[in-house]
Amino acid sequence: MGLITPEIASFLGRVRLGFVATVSPAGLPNVSPKGTIVALDGSRLAFADIRSPDTMANIAARPAVEISAIDPLSRRGYLFAGTAVARAGGADYEAASRIYSGMGIRSRVRAVAVVDVESVSEVTSPLYDTGASEGEVRASWARRYGAGSPP
Ligand SMILES: Cc1cc2nc3c(=O)[nH]c(=O)nc-3n(C[C@H](O)[C@H](O)[C@H](O)COP(=O)(O)O)c2cc1C
Repeated sequence: MGLITPEIASFLGRVRLGFVATVSPAGLPNVSPKGTIVALDGSRLAFADIRSPDTMANIAARPAVEISAIDPLSRRGYLFAGTAVARAGGADYEAASRIYSGMGIRSRVRAVAVVDVESVSEVTSPLYDTGASEGEVRASWARRYGAGSPP
C-alpha cells in the first residue's frame, strides 16, 4: 500500500483545505491555502494553480514542499512532505482536472502541482492528550462554529 491510504484520500476529499509551505529562491518561507489538494494515487497529491504565483515560482526553483491538512472539527489531520512539479498538460493534469470537475470546481486551472509524497505524519491536537474522544472534540468545535462566533 502507498503512503496515501484510501482513508487519507477520503479525508482530503472531505476537508477540502490544506496549507502548502514552500521556500522562495531567497530562502524565505511561504504558506498558502489550497482548497484543491487531492490524492492522485497512492504516492502523489495534487493541487491546482488557479492563482498561486508565488507557490508555483517557488516550486520551480526549489521543489521541496510540506502540506498541512487539518479537519477543523475533529482537530486531526496529516502533514505531508515531498517534492512538487508543475504540469500544465499531460496525463496527470488531465487526471487532476477530472477530479476537480467531479468536485464542482469551475475555476480555470492554469497548472497542477503534482507532489511526490515522501513522508506522511498524522497530527492530532493536544486536546486528545486530555482524554477527550473524537466525538466530544468534534461536537465542541461544531457548536463553536455553528454559533457563528469565532472561537
Ligand atoms: C480557502 C482558500 C482556498 C484556496 N485554494 C486555492 C487553490 O486551490 N488554488 C489556488 O491557486 N489558489 C487558492 N486560493 C487562493 C490563493 O491561496 C491566493 O491567491 C494566494 O494569495 C496565493 O499565494 P501563493 O502565490 O503564495 O500561493 C485559496 C484561498 C483560500 C482562502
